[in-house]
Amino acid sequence: MGIKNEKSLGFSFFMSKNIIMRKEKNMALDTNVGNILTQQINKEFYSAYLYLTFADFYEEQGLKGFANWYVIQSQEELAHARILRRYLLDNDWTPTMEAIAKPDLTFTKVVEPIKAAYEHEQFITASINECYAVAQKANDFRTMQLLDWYVKEQGEEEANASDLLKAVELFGGDPKSLFDLDRENATRVFVAPTMPM
Ligand code: FEO
Repeated sequence: MGIKNEKSLGFSFFMSKNIIMRKEKNMALDTNVGNILTQQINKEFYSAYLYLTFADFYEEQGLKGFANWYVIQSQEELAHARILRRYLLDNDWTPTMEAIAKPDLTFTKVVEPIKAAYEHEQFITASINECYAVAQKANDFRTMQLLDWYVKEQGEEEANASDLLKAVELFGGDPKSLFDLDRENATRVFVAPTMPM
């Protein structure tokens, strides 16, 4: 595996040689698996960061319910990162905490962050699939079992993002409907996922 650059929503991941070259004796994990899960932790942290900027946009717009939705989503992403970190540590791999890229999207319309969120979740799904492929290639069945949870979780994340997008596209142009959607989004609460294995 070489140094990796990936682009999504206008930001680049740059994984340093510190991550890529990290390999020590007696590692329980395949090096490629440890490295790609470490990269995934960075993507989950970036996702959390990104969704906070979406929440900030909605605060500016006076839509505190939508802001709440993305604050909760940010918490979900931190949980995803935390589970991966715990898994790596439990398998004798210390992940490197790399710099988190700066989200640089700007929005003018209510629907724009929601559309960006849907596209970002599709990007994360592809990234999880890539992790899975690396684990499969290494015959790392334990990691594949962990990633089964992430595959399922990504299905839910995409469905949530898509449902919200459809609702806003259908009804967001009407002030009363937008008000109702905002109130509905204000009810979302964070439920911490448990370690999937
Ligand atoms: Fe951690 Fe929204 O995927």
